[in-house]
Formats: sequence, structure tokens, C-alpha cells
Amino acid sequence: MKAAVITQFGPPEVLQIQERQTPVPRTEEVLVKVKAIGLNFADVMARIGVYPAIPDPPFVPGIEFSGVITAIGKEVHNVKNGDRVWGFSKQGAYAEFVCVPSTMVQPLPKKLDFQHAVAIGVTSLTAYHALVKLANVQKKERVLIHAAAGGVGIAAIQIAKHLGAEIFATVGSTEKMEIAREQGAHVVINYSREKFADIIRKKTDGEGVDVILDSVGGRVMKEGWKLLAPMGRYVLFGFAAAIGERGVNKFKAAREAVAMPIIFPATLASRNIGLFGFNLYFLAHKTVYFRAAWGKIMDWHAKGIIKPVIGKVFTFDRIAEAQAYLQNRMSIGKVVVVL
Ligand SMILES: NC(=O)c1ccc[n+]([C@@H]2O[C@H](COP(=O)([O-])OP(=O)(O)OC[C@H]3O[C@@H](n4cnc5c(N)ncnc54)[C@H](OP(=O)(O)O)[C@@H]3O)[C@@H](O)[C@H]2O)c1
Repeated sequence: MKAAVITQFGPPEVLQIQERQTPVPRTEEVLVKVKAIGLNFADVMARIGVYPAIPDPPFVPGIEFSGVITAIGKEVHNVKNGDRVWGFSKQGAYAEFVCVPSTMVQPLPKKLDFQHAVAIGVTSLTAYHALVKLANVQKKERVLIHAAAGGVGIAAIQIAKHLGAEIFATVGSTEKMEIAREQGAHVVINYSREKFADIIRKKTDGEGVDVILDSVGGRVMKEGWKLLAPMGRYVLFGFAAAIGERGVNKFKAAREAVAMPIIFPATLASRNIGLFGFNLYFLAHKTVYFRAAWGKIMDWHAKGIIKPVIGKVFTFDRIAEAQAYLQNRMSIGKVVVVL
């Protein structure tokens, strides 16, 4: 089979298409013929070599796919050959075939095609986990979403809107501002140009916001942390600020890391605020939770609450280009690769 291999850590060119042995499913695994790959920022970090728990190169990256089951292990009972599925993999999805435990795939409703399935999966599960499970967002609460025109950002706007929140969004360009507004954000700020915290303080009469979804970190967290109102919940789930156009610029990364606020537990009590952190990659074994979350997300999709936005589709031979596009902040919504 053809697979895109990270030949060494580095810029997009290190990702090369090679011939690999098609994997064979073990007793509790399924083999999936991949039809679409969902690109995630985590893939960029894996290629650069800064994602936790990745193997040494060469390895096949990729954590999100959709496709058709072509073989199953002896102990697989939840799915069968021919089923159309969305799936999560601890790497290996940048290939024509991928093998995963059967608990890592979810059935696709008839009306959901392969490309839209990967545009919904990780983005919506991430936004759901942050807004519903952790922050428990309530009607009329003020929610600030950073990088709001990205894959996760758009899913977060859609879910926050459904929950009845007042949405504040930051984005990195004028074009992205339009998208965040179209999706339903009430206040949209280009944080590359304007001081988002000053604007939000003004708009909320100094009260700040109840929930912050932060996948950027660094100085963005420093400013946001001060914006949290009493009973506020800060959800940190990424550190995109550390990434530069060609990889990790050590000076930039160090500057952003040093800018993060130093948080003393006693201050959380006196300010009546909380900090959550999460990484779904390390929660993948919570299969019962994710099956239920997937069910909720499919229900929301059927009702038109979640409407995946595919910003750009690339063919498999252009997967390195697709990663560069995501890394360079050009993408809007989800970047999808088709086979
Ligand atoms: N912890 C988890 O379980 C989990 C799961 C999924 C995703 N994530 C994180 O959530 C974020 C969104 O993921 P995604 O896959 O949907 O990506 P994405 O939002 O579509 O793309 C990343 C966005 O991050 C923003 N960004 C800010 N600083 C950046 C920088 N220095 N370099 C590149 N981008 C920068 C850019 O938006 P602007 O131009 O608008 O700033 C960029 O478009 C990522 O940070 C990812 O690591 C975490």
C-alpha cells in the first residue's frame, strides 16, 4: 500500500509517499480502506517532532480517517466488513489502509460522506469535550474562542451557539473574521492586529468572560487569564503559538512559553476560577465516553447544529503541501486529504 512517511523530523518535505506492507488486523482490530484523512494540527507537531508520545522516524503519522472496513479480527463484534466508519488512530492514518482496535471506529450515518466525516470527528469531539464536559457552558454565558476560524474553532462556535452562549472569537486575519461572524460569533477580533483583551474588557464593562477555549497558549494565555470572570473556566488544549512557518523557532517558542502565566493554586480559590487542560490523544481509551459523545455529535449534525466546514481538499500525493497549508495559518475550517 501507499503511505505518507515522516522520514525525519522537519519541514513538510520530510513527509514522503512510500510503499509499505498493508497491515493485518489482530484479534480485536479492524482493517480500514482509507477514503479520507482529516488533517490535524497535532500532525504538524508530530512531523516537527514536538508532539508527545510519537515514535522515532521513520513512521506513518495521521490520527483521523474515514473509510470502509475490509477485514476484522476474530474477536470483533461491534462492526463488520463493508461498514463505513470514521476512526481515530494513534498514528498510521496517512495511508491507503490503517489497522486500529475496533473500539476506535464509529459508524457513519448513510447521509454523511467520508470527507465530511473527518471534518466533523476530531474537531467536534474536541469542542464538545471542552465546552460540554469540562466547561459545562450555560445559556447566556460569555465564551471566548481563540483561533475561531480553524477546524476546532468553527466546531466550538457552532456548539457554543447551540448552548446559547454569547460568543467572543479571535482570529488571525480579516478573511477569517468574516467566517467567524458567519458562523455566529457575536464579537470577532483579529488578535494579530488588535489587543483582544482590551476590546473584550470594554465590550463587557470590565466583567470579562466565563469560559475561554485556548489552543494557542503563550502570550494569548497571559492576556486571557486576566479576563476570566469569577466562576470562570479556562480550558487549555494546545500550544500553537510555539510553531513557526518552518517548524519550531526556538527563540519564539521560548518567548511564548515564558509568557504563560504562573498560576498559584491559592489564586484559583481567591479569584473563584478554574483551569482545565486536556489532550484527547491520551483519552482515546475512554471508549464508552467517546461513543456517547459521537452519538450526541451525530444527532447535532442530523439536526443541522453541527455543519462541518471543509476549507480545502488535497489529493494524497499533495499531503505535504496540505500540512504546510495548515501550519502556515492559511486554512479555514478543516483540511481534508482524499484517497
Ligand atoms: N488537546 C487536544 O485534545 C486537541 C485536539 C484537537 C486540536 N487541538 C489543538 O487545537 C488547535 C486547533 O486544531 P486544528 O487541528 O483545528 O487546527 P486549526 O485551528 O485549523 O489550525 C491551527 C490554527 O491555530 C492558529 N494559530 C495561532 N498561532 C499559530 C502559530 N504560531 N502557528 C500556526 N497556527 C497558529 C491559527 O489560527 P489564527 O490564524 O486564527 O490564529 C491556525 O489556523 C491546535 O492548536 C491543536 O493542537 C488539541
